[in-house]
This record gives sequence, structure tokens and C-alpha cells, in this order.
Amino acid sequence: MNSFNFHNPTQIIFGENKINNLKKYLPKGIKILLTYGRQSIHKNGLYHQIISQLSDFEIIEFGNIKPNPEYTQLQEAVKLIKKEKIDFILAVGGGSVIDATKFIAAAALYDGDTWEMVKSIGKDIKKALPFACILTLPATGSEMNNAAVISKRDNAEKLLIINKHLFPQFSILDPQVVASLPQKQIVNGIVDAFVHILEQYITYPSNAPIQDGFAETLLKTLLELTPKILENPKDIDVASNFMYTTTLALNGLIGAGVPQDWATHSIGHELTALFDIDHARTLAIIIPGVWEVMFEQKKEKLAQYGKNIWNLKGTTNEIAEQAIEKTDEFFQSLGILPRI
Ligand code: NZQ
Ligand code: ZN
Repeated sequence: MNSFNFHNPTQIIFGENKINNLKKYLPKGIKILLTYGRQSIHKNGLYHQIISQLSDFEIIEFGNIKPNPEYTQLQEAVKLIKKEKIDFILAVGGGSVIDATKFIAAAALYDGDTWEMVKSIGKDIKKALPFACILTLPATGSEMNNAAVISKRDNAEKLLIINKHLFPQFSILDPQVVASLPQKQIVNGIVDAFVHILEQYITYPSNAPIQDGFAETLLKTLLELTPKILENPKDIDVASNFMYTTTLALNGLIGAGVPQDWATHSIGHELTALFDIDHARTLAIIIPGVWEVMFEQKKEKLAQYGKNIWNLKGTTNEIAEQAIEKTDEFFQSLGILPRI
């Protein structure tokens, strides 16, 4: 196992109706910027549920954040924070709204060109406004990590920032939000979380049975949950397990002390920047090919994955090859485009 330093300060408030305790977690007397996406929180009633919790606070809203949040649009939010002297940001949404909020929180306190701040991969961020999340789409893990991905469509760029100031103070995870998700977004969530686990697991053996064991349990759980969540996203027990799996897939735990390989995500971000393909779909298209190219380096872990997750038998090479096929078949069974 490698040396590591694991610190995750985000408080997770998990369970049905936990949104109704929201104001308990907010500091008194603060002025809040409420960030959200386009239609979904109005259609599923979350907007009213949350606004009714916030009657003691002064609220300014910044909605209409689009998938793959756009740098240019977010400049308006940064101006609003400065003009309105906002103390705290509350994000209600999936990865796009949460990532946008992380960028806004840092950019509002940044002295200089904020695209240069992004290009530093977030290293130049010295502080950020405090923020919290109400997660509406289990997928990215952004609700419990310190990463964000911001696009600048003029440059066809989609770039990652990571910084210790980008952890949410708290995130409320109420599995009831899954009920209103379109199937396409549930599939995206399954695939994104599955690939997050794989990119921290399919590298090379590093004698880390705890991390491998966690990763394998998360993969098996996702595979077991997939038909159930697609059949009935209103099943609260299934939705709870799905939501917790996606959060644990990318909160730093399973990647601590092991090699990681984010090549598929890096290539995927380029595909989204160039062709506007959904994030998760880019991953499903790319990962089998990455494994084929890196076969010699990855075959030991591919074989371990093939044995433990897909119950495959044969030589290391045979199992590793079949594991790539099984993964591809799984993604295709979810209606993801055939790989290139
Ligand atoms: O805009 P609205 O109307 O709210 O609709 C959204 C959006 O169209 C809808 N939605 C969200 N919650 C819903 C809902 N519809 C019905 N009911 C609900 N409860 O879902 C659509 C997609 O939302 P989005 O936030 O874009 O999806 P996701 O959570 O998959 O986030 C994708 C973004 O996260 C980045 C991706 O690159 C992409 O930009 N990622 C962030 C990561 C991180 N911060 O750690 C890691 C990931 O690998 C990923 O790169
Ligand atoms: Zn991802």
C-alpha cells in the first residue's frame, strides 16, 4: 500500500425527509445564494420544500445552471455574490450545479483571472465561500469531494479543479430525489459511479486488500442494484443504497493509498467539450479501449476484477480479456452507444 493523507470534512446527512431539517445545519443570520439547475426542482416540488425551510434567511437565487457548467454563465453568479455580499451558497442539484457552486465559491474570493485559476487545476485557490449541497442526482460524488469540472465552450475546454477549500460543509442526501429522475440520468449515474470505482481499482496490484475489497463491494452493489433501480426508482431502500454507493465511489476513501488512473475521465472530458456527449456516456465509450491499450500494465487487476466481480475462470489473460467484454456488454445493456 502507498502512503496517504485522507481528510474529508464534509458532513453527510442521509435519509428520507432529511431536507426538512435543513435550517438546523445553516449558521444563523447568513445571506444565502441558492444555486440550482433548470426545470427539475420546480417540477418535483423540491424548490418549494427548500424555500419553505429558509424563511428565516435572506435568499438570493441563481438558477438555470446547465449540465456541464459553463464558465461564462457562472461569471454572473460571481458578480451577484459580490454585489449582494453573500455569506454562504446552497447548491440544489446534481454534479453540474454542485461543481458550478464550487467554482463560484472560489472565484468570488479570487483576486485575478478566474480562468487562470481553473487552468492551475485549482492549485491557486487560497480560499472559498462556505457552501453546502442538497443532492438531487446520485452520480458524481461531488457532494462529498473537493473536485469540480468547468467548461469553456469558446475554447472547447472542460477542465478539472481540485482544492482543499472545495469540500461542501455538509450535504443532504435524501434518497426520495431519485424518484423524479429520468431513466437516462439514472443510467448516467450508474455508469459514472461504476467508472469512478474502476479508475481507482483497475491499475496494478499494490497489496491493498482493504481498498480492493471496498471497491469490489461497491461494484457488486451497483451491479445488483442496477435492474432494481431501473425497474422502480421509487423503491426507497434501493434508492438509498444506490445513493450511498455513488457517494462512496468518489469521496476519496477507496482511492487512498492505491494507484489511480483517470485516463478515461480525461479523454471523456475532451469528448464532452468537443461533442457535448453526456459525461457518463463518454466513459462507457472510452474505458474498454483504454484497457485494451494498457492491457499488459492492467491485466493482473483486470483478472482480479473478472474473477471477483464477474465470476470468470481461465488464465490471467483469458479472464482479463473477458472482463473487458463483460464491462462493455454491461454498459451496452444500459443503452449506452457502442464503443469506438
Ligand atoms: O437542470 P435540471 O432541470 O435540474 O435537470 C437536471 C439535468 O438536466 C436533471 N436532474 C437532476 N436532478 C434531478 C433531475 N431531473 C429530475 N429529477 C431530479 N432529481 O439531470 C440532468 C443532469 O444533471 P447534471 O448535474 O448535469 O448531472 P450529473 O450529476 O451527472 O453531473 C455531471 C457533471 O458533473 C461532472 C461532469 O463532468 C459533468 O459536468 N463531474 C463532476 C465530478 C466531481 N465534481 O467530482 C466527477 C465526475 O467524474 C464528473 O466529471
Ligand atoms: Zn465521472
